[in-house]
Amino acid sequence: MNQNNQSVELLKAILPTLISAAQQHYVHATINLKKGFIKLGNRMMEEYTEETATVGKIIDRLIELDGTVELVNPEAQLAVYSSIEDQLRNECDYQFKSIALLEGAIRSTTLDLVTENFLTEYLNEETQHAAWLKQQVELMDTIGVKNYLSKQI
Ligand SMILES: [Fe+2]
Repeated sequence: MNQNNQSVELLKAILPTLISAAQQHYVHATINLKKGFIKLGNRMMEEYTEETATVGKIIDRLIELDGTVELVNPEAQLAVYSSIEDQLRNECDYQFKSIALLEGAIRSTTLDLVTENFLTEYLNEETQHAAWLKQQVELMDTIGVKNYLSKQI
């Protein structure tokens, strides 16, 4: 497979998961804003906006490379949680799993340079997102969920 084909395959493979993850952030953000946890809701909405922009860039790149765009993959469906503790713990677990998968995929694939640079930048953003999620989980463990939530209003 040439570099462009390998890039298309990798981009196609990650797209449905990214769409699903971005939508999960949106639902969680909206639930939390409605509950009055404005700080946390706004932060999650920023992730949604950032990841939705990434989804757009992946679609652009796929079309540039003459790939087809498939939006649905049943395995990429993510659950929605109403409890903030469950939201953060699950997003955190999923975030670290996705980073490991993406790292492995980038390493084992010969990508065209534009796609490789783009995915490396994306990996960097997601690593920062993972660090933030881990920090929130650790804060809940350290100061207790109630105390954590009282800081998110
Ligand atoms: Fe993320």
